[in-house]
Amino acid sequence: MFDADFIANPYPTYQHMLATGRLHWMEAAGGAWLVPHYDDVMTLFRDSRLTTSRSDIFSWQFPEEDRHYLRDFSEITKLWLSGIDGEEHVRLRRLLNKAFTPGVVEAMRPQIQRLTDELIDTFYAQGEVELMRQFAHLLPALVIGQLLGVPREDRHLFVKWSDDLAAFLSSLSATLDMARRANDALASMREYFRPIVAERRQQPGEDLVSLMILSEEQGRTFTEDQLLAQCSLFLFAGHETTRNLIGNGMKALLDHPEQLELLRQNSDLLPSAIDEIVRYDSPVQMIPRVVGEDLELFGQQIKQSQVVQLLLGAANRDAAQFPEPDRFDITRSYKRPASFGFGAHFCIGMPLAMLEIEIAFNTLVRRLPNLRLAGPAERSPNFGLRGFHTLPLAFDPVQSPIEEERLALA
Ligand code: HEM
Repeated sequence: MFDADFIANPYPTYQHMLATGRLHWMEAAGGAWLVPHYDDVMTLFRDSRLTTSRSDIFSWQFPEEDRHYLRDFSEITKLWLSGIDGEEHVRLRRLLNKAFTPGVVEAMRPQIQRLTDELIDTFYAQGEVELMRQFAHLLPALVIGQLLGVPREDRHLFVKWSDDLAAFLSSLSATLDMARRANDALASMREYFRPIVAERRQQPGEDLVSLMILSEEQGRTFTEDQLLAQCSLFLFAGHETTRNLIGNGMKALLDHPEQLELLRQNSDLLPSAIDEIVRYDSPVQMIPRVVGEDLELFGQQIKQSQVVQLLLGAANRDAAQFPEPDRFDITRSYKRPASFGFGAHFCIGMPLAMLEIEIAFNTLVRRLPNLRLAGPAERSPNFGLRGFHTLPLAFDPVQSPIEEERLALA
């Protein structure tokens, strides 16, 4: 388990795990209990005996004398919304929820559509595209950058920081070099946002950074460090997962050309197609929790401080929840997949992610006819955050007045 073959296709192993037990022990990455069943994953997401205070589990993999390399990483991730429990979490989350109400997110539709079309214009005339580099990396970086109100030209920085963080956070055999890069990425993000936060304090705008500052001003405090930490969390969480969902979803459609054709012919299927894309190859494969007290789980004694990994990718292929789970079927009636988590830490950015991929898939499928793979698709070596490194595609550009006008403007 957890070798290159598993990372390429973890689903046969998941089926084996689903058939053979509710809890499995894994030796890799310092040891962890793995939970594959949908109902168990959803129940444990709401079990307060399992905590999200997990920033230290990343340094546990290394000998004591090397852990200082992760000092910034630990300091910052300890303050992330995703790493805080209880009252403090509820309070911070309430402040941030305002930025992600359906109304606020829906208002971003025209901007996201414009960004999507502009990106497609940059490669349309060539009839080919490396989807990850030329589209999937950029759209979420631009959208989250816009939400945070940071300059568009800096998007290459977000992509680099995000890559370094993802490689470390989602590896089961992280090296010290990966740890150092992740540490540097987070420290750089903190320094990047420091002057931006100072400027927004003087002159607040409509962006998420200003919203956090104003919330602070209204007596419900974000400390400076908390604020800077949430900026790095949003930059990372808003980018990494969504780009992988675009790549994974496109590959699933290309592997099932009849489903791609069905979607092209019937755009009413878009909502159920998006749900199926989210379920079928989840960009987040596992979520760790740390056991807060000794406890018994499914007949097994679990010790305080041990790690429990909730296997979202396996839960989404649990036949008890999704009949014929390995079949990709965009007409499937919707059942909530595990991909966005559940309970108090349920993904706050889900409405935005769903809007981005709805627009991305609708526009890609509509504007790029006869989409096909143009070379080998290369998986990224990360397991926990599952995606593609490269996805080369070809298509037949249409000579239409609308497309010609767009290209003249591009
Ligand atoms: C396909 C896209 C996405 C997926 C699959 C995804 C998945 C998840 C999951 C599984 C969690 C739960 C973590 C846990 O329980 O420990 C989570 C939390 C979170 N997500 Fe997302 N996410 C996506 C997009 C986004 C976007 C676009 C944003 C921001 C704009 C975002 C921001 C967050 C934040 C801040 C949390 C922490 C919430 C909390 O702890 O209360 N995510 N996400």
